[in-house]
Parts: sequence; structure tokens; C-alpha cells
Amino acid sequence: MDNIKELCSRPYFELEDIVTLLSLQDPQEIEVLSKSAEVRLLQERGNAVYFRGLVEFSNICTCDCYYCGIRKSNTGVQRYLLQKEQIVEAARWCAQQGYGSIVLQSGERRDESFIDFVEDVVRSIKEATRSPGLPLGLGITLCVGEQNAEAYKRFFRAGAHRYLLRIETTSADLFSQLHPKTQSFSSRKQCLDLLKKIGFLVGTGVMIGLPGQTVEDLARDILFFRDLDIDMIGMGPYIVHPETPLSACKGEQVRCTDEVFLLSLKMIAVTRLVLRNVNIAATTALQAIKGDGREQGLLFGANVIMPQLTPEEFRKEYLLYEGKPCLDENAEQCKSCLSRRVASTGRVIAYDAWGDRRVV
Ligand code: 5AD
Repeated sequence: MDNIKELCSRPYFELEDIVTLLSLQDPQEIEVLSKSAEVRLLQERGNAVYFRGLVEFSNICTCDCYYCGIRKSNTGVQRYLLQKEQIVEAARWCAQQGYGSIVLQSGERRDESFIDFVEDVVRSIKEATRSPGLPLGLGITLCVGEQNAEAYKRFFRAGAHRYLLRIETTSADLFSQLHPKTQSFSSRKQCLDLLKKIGFLVGTGVMIGLPGQTVEDLARDILFFRDLDIDMIGMGPYIVHPETPLSACKGEQVRCTDEVFLLSLKMIAVTRLVLRNVNIAATTALQAIKGDGREQGLLFGANVIMPQLTPEEFRKEYLLYEGKPCLDENAEQCKSCLSRRVASTGRVIAYDAWGDRRVV
């Protein structure tokens, strides 16, 4: 036990240290890991949990990722794009609740009208959400995939200051098994570099428990986050969606749900220990496989939660994986449910705050 305590308090982690921690199975040792992550979180980021209201504003997607429920080849999905006013209205509500930040997420499109639309929405949200409590308006995070430098610059100038783009896995082999040839690990990585250069706070993340993924792969993912000096992490369990090619993967390559859940929590805790001052989300996918998954994510060192703001009638068309929770809850119910969940962990929700790890 003492050696695990010592390991958790290292100032610097080697690949094998990370592999050891991710491989822990003994419940008492896992408890040491989660407590150490919590202590590190409190030291580095304090007791606050930050809310980022999530608007999934369009499921139209030009990508065909083998794991994703809204991939372009899934003809069973009713495609939608919210109107600008619907998104701005959700943003106003978000600001009135004191959430402080909003995440605009969609499928990936690179056409001019989409770029114009996103830019316009960002600008309008900034204008609509300034208040004495939030003089600069809502903090805006974009999550609209791989784009060129010009598009990223336009989004940044319009007022979005954070960008989430998951690398999905840092194993180039595994990446190529999960995506068609038109998508590549190197172009994803180039986008992350570009986003940093432009000045965004940059978030990335991976899926955990992918068929064929090893603990070493996950350990390297964490080192990748450290090497890039990533500001925000959003990662969660891979969950099968039946209408995807990857759902055909069965047998040895697939871990059981409990194992994937635990591995996801350990990834959060170890990422906290290695990166220290970083924002880590307790993602919705955690709750999709365990009722109290997001609270557990907080207890293992996460400090961000993303309450649903997508209008209810569209939520069921944004199913990246099976079993997504909170489909029939309105934004108000979602707020009180999450407030209860956060309170149960002994942490405090920070209202009217952006909660960035550094000033842009
Ligand atoms: N299981 C878990 N996460 C998924 N994502 C997409 N499909 C799945 C799935 N089946 C994640 C990807 C993507 C993010 C928006 O959702 O990591 O980047």
C-alpha cells in the first residue's frame, strides 16, 4: 500500500509508473489512487466543480468513424441543425443559471456555410450573455472537429476561447483501425498544434476500452496529454453503438463493462496526478454505464461537468453510443439533478465563473 502512496506522490511519472497505476486491481490500492488524485485536485484546482452547458447543435456529419452512432453512413439517424436563435436562447438560459460556460458540439462539416454559421453563433452568444456577473459573457468551447487554420482563427476572433478535439487514441495503428483512410492521426494532431498556436485553451481526450487497446496505449495517451501541455481533458468509456461497424467486434478484444468503467476512473485519476493543473470532465459516457458514474468521476479527480442544454426533441438524434442518459429530462431538471449529484461528493459548484486553468 505504501509503495502505491509513494508512487502517486511522485513529482514526475515514467511510462511504467503510469502502467502500474492503471493496472491496479486491489480495491484498497485503487482507493489510495483516487484519494491521491483528489488531494492533488484540491491543491491544484480547489474544491470547485465547473459547469459547461452542452448544446449538441447539429448531428450532420461528413465523417464515418467506425464507432460513432452519428457517422454519415448511419441512415437511421434523423439529421438536424438547430436554428441560430435556438442556440442563442439555450446560451441565455445557461448564463442565467450562472453556468459560466457553454460547449457547442456538432458533427464535422467544413463547408463555408457551416463555418459562417458557427462564427455567427459564437459572436451572437457573446453579445447576448454579457452581464454584471459575467462581464465577458459566457466562456465558449467549440467542439466542431478538424478545420483549417482560417476557420479556427475566425472562431477565435469571434470569441470562442476553448476548443475540444479528441485524439481518440494516440496509437496510430489503432487510430487507423477505427477510421476510414480519409481521416488520420497526423492531421488530428496537426489540428491540436494549430489550435494551440492560435491561442485557444485546448482540450483533447481518448476513448477507453476500445477493442484491441492496451493499458500501455492508455499510458501513452496520458504522456501525449502531458507533452502537448493540454489544458482540458474529456475522455470516457467506449460504448458500443449497434449501428456501427465496430459493434461487430466481439470476443477477446472486448473488455467487460465493469472493467472499462474502472479503467476510465483510473485514467481520470492518473491524468490528474500526471498533469496536475488541468480541467478534467466527468463525461456523460461514465453515467451511461453506471448510474453514479459522473460522481465517481469527480471523486477520482475530475472537476468539470457538462449539463445538457440540447432541446429535448433533438437529443435522441445525437446518440454517439447506446444507453445515453438524460434523454427525457429538460434543462431545468438536469440542473437540479446534477446539483444533487455534485453535492453528494462534498464539492461545490462554481457559478458565474469560467474556471480556466490559465488566462488566455
Ligand atoms: N462510445 C464512446 N464515445 C464515443 N464517441 C463517439 N462514439 C463513441 C462511442 N461509441 C466520442 C468520441 C468523440 C466524442 C464527441 O464522442 O470520442 O470525439
